[in-house]
Parts: sequence; C-alpha cells; structure tokens
Amino acid sequence: MDFTEMENVTILTHPLIKHKITMLRDVNTGTNEFRKLIEEIATLMGYEALRDLPLKDVEVTTPLETCMSPMIAGRKLAIVPILRAGLGMVQGILNLTPTAKVGHIGLYRDPETHEPVEYYCKLPSPIEERTIVVLDPMLATGGSAVDAIMQIKKHGGRTIKFMCIIAAPEGLQKLHEEHPDVQIYVGNLDRELNEHAYICPGLGDAGDRIFGTK
Ligand code: PRP
Ligand code: URA
Repeated sequence: MDFTEMENVTILTHPLIKHKITMLRDVNTGTNEFRKLIEEIATLMGYEALRDLPLKDVEVTTPLETCMSPMIAGRKLAIVPILRAGLGMVQGILNLTPTAKVGHIGLYRDPETHEPVEYYCKLPSPIEERTIVVLDPMLATGGSAVDAIMQIKKHGGRTIKFMCIIAAPEGLQKLHEEHPDVQIYVGNLDRELNEHAYICPGLGDAGDRIFGTK
C-alpha cells in the first residue's frame, strides 16, 4: 500500500525530525533525554499539522502605520493525548498554541490480546466546535488510535487530526480505513510489527521510556 498517495496521510520528511527520531530509537538514550526529544519532535510535527489553522485579519499599529494583518482565528483547539505515552507530546504542541485546551483518553493495550482497554475519557467542551489533535507517539496495530478517535466522535468531535512519531504499516492502514476523515501525521513509517505487536525497528515501549517504568 502506497501511503504517500493517500490524501489524509502525511509522512514527515524534515531532517530535524528524522535526526531526533534516530536519537529516540537509541537504547542508550535515557529517560530525561527521551522526554525532551519527544517534546521537540511533537513541536516540529505540530508546525506541519497546524498549518491549516484558520486566520482572521486584525488591525495592528506598527511604528510606521496601521494595517490589517492575520492572526489565528478563535481559540478552538483541543489537544488530546492518549495516556500514558501521548502525555509526553502535550507540551510540544502547547509550545506552539499555549491557549489550547487539553483533554485525556486513557487506554492501554491488553498484553495478551493487544486490544485496547479504555479507562478514562475527559474532553474539553464544546468538543464539536474544536479542532482536535490526538497525540500518541506509537501507532502499532492501530487499535488504541481507532478506539480513541471513536470515543471522541461519540462525544461529538468532528474535526480530528492524529499525530504519531512512529507508525507501523499495519496500524496506519487500519486507522486510514476506519477513520478516513481524520488527517494523520506520521514522523516515520517503520517496517513492521513483530509477534508481540511491537513496532520494528521502533523504539521499544514509549510509555516505559518516557516515565522510566518497566
Ligand atoms: C502504547 C502506545 C499506544 C499503543 C499503540 O500504549 O502509547 O497507545 O501502545 O499500540 P496499538 O496501536 O497496537 O494500540 P500502551 O498500551 O503500552 O499503554 P501506556 O502508554 O499506558 O504504556
Ligand atoms: N506500543 C509501544 O510503546 N511500542 C510499540 O512498539 C508498540 C506499541
């Protein structure tokens, strides 16, 4: 499947993103550096994912004259990390849009079935009027992302973007098929899933590496 042909899929190519993803993958990258890299990559990806934010002209007085000049229209952005690992990306987006509201969706993958198990959902209202950016560094089978977006839609969310740092082809295909209306931004498309549904070459367990758990 050629993902580059899909209108709702953007695989980022910026060399800074590629460089930082390589540092993330490194097994010798410790928790502190890993967290910083996740935040920095989220900022760089956010720059691309938010390029269609609506603008409106406002009047501004420069030292020379008064003119009309564009600013972001409204304050209707919601950032929704998928717990836990998505939390690591939140500040990276808030660096760009500090007034965005933040919701949370709690999901974990059952270690045997690899199916998502939901445990929390709190979204800022009015969710139906907001552009919603769902954050999770890893898109593996796609189960967690598909489920999280389904929950957001059930609560009324309509304009949804999904940002992940590393995707497996299996997860990207599933997310594209189940939610073709969602714009998907991917830092790197990796080779495949292994028999434990981990992304290869990947970076291991993102949540454990961000929070220093095992
Ligand atoms: C990881 C990751 C995604 C999910 C991806 O979370 O952060 O949410 O796995 O896998 P999938 O595409 O196959 O659903 P995990 O379940 O390990 O939970 P955690 O963030 O709480 O550690
Ligand atoms: N979740 C992770 O954190 N890493 C993977 O490779 C797959 C799912």
